[in-house]
Amino acid sequence: MEYKEFLKTTLPHLGLRWRRFNRKSIRNRVIDRMRQLNLHTWSDYKRHVLENEEERYLLTGMLAVTISRFWRNSSLFERLEKKWLPVLLEAVSPEETVQIWSAGCASGEEPYSLLILWQESFANSGRSLRLLASDSDTHCLKRARQARYPASSFREMPLQLRQEYFANEKGTFSLRHDLSQKIEWFEHNLIWEPPPMNNHLIFCRNLVYTYFVDALQDEITRRFHQALVAGGFLVVGRKDRLPHGTGELFRLVEHPVYQTIDVPGAI
Ligand SMILES: C[S@@+](CC[C@H](N)C(=O)[O-])C[C@H]1O[C@@H](n2cnc3c(N)ncnc32)[C@H](O)[C@@H]1O
Repeated sequence: MEYKEFLKTTLPHLGLRWRRFNRKSIRNRVIDRMRQLNLHTWSDYKRHVLENEEERYLLTGMLAVTISRFWRNSSLFERLEKKWLPVLLEAVSPEETVQIWSAGCASGEEPYSLLILWQESFANSGRSLRLLASDSDTHCLKRARQARYPASSFREMPLQLRQEYFANEKGTFSLRHDLSQKIEWFEHNLIWEPPPMNNHLIFCRNLVYTYFVDALQDEITRRFHQALVAGGFLVVGRKDRLPHGTGELFRLVEHPVYQTIDVPGAI
């Protein structure tokens, strides 16, 4: 058995689309793990994975792609500022706290982008924000709290915002203000754990609809629907699409923004 065959026959058991993981860097990571276990063939490792729940958990972690950047898909951030956050604020009563959840937040680039956008355009609106950010990878969450990033993380973010919010320390950029404490970080696995409820907006980009098999996409989309208030929004990645079977739950309002289908006009 070769690596490709191993992926093809093992990853569906983890709920993952095997093609996405056919990369040399990931292959090398798995080979290191096989060495640790003193297993020499892909078939031996496959058997070990299928017989051992802890190893399935570990392998899922090894496969995780944690690439992210600030203002990823920058046109989305423009549309959020000009259109979708104003629509949301209009619909939520002024006393209510707006709750946004970044699910699969990597090292914090996405929730910090949302927080900076909020600081810039909505912080003086008198509205309060609760921003939740989760990832299944503890190392990612640790990096998120440290909030230090290489220049490449900012290539889509307006330069003036990088200059305003980050201090350049010899080519590494550290968040200036203590914005990290304004975000509630928590470890959370979308496959196994129930989501936090009462969100007005969920971000789940370049994760569920990129890497997970259809059945799991379907199940998690249903959970997202329950975790959103009526009329709430779900934002996916630029190349992501919701599975066909969930058309009765969400309508596409403007790619990649979906809205729950509930009572008309409710939020
Ligand atoms: C490619 S990054 C996407 C980051 C960000 N959402 C973006 O679009 O830039 C995917 C993230 O999902 C996390 N992840 C992978 N499997 C997960 C799971 N089952 N539950 C929660 N997070 C997961 C990874 O650790 C990684 O940080």
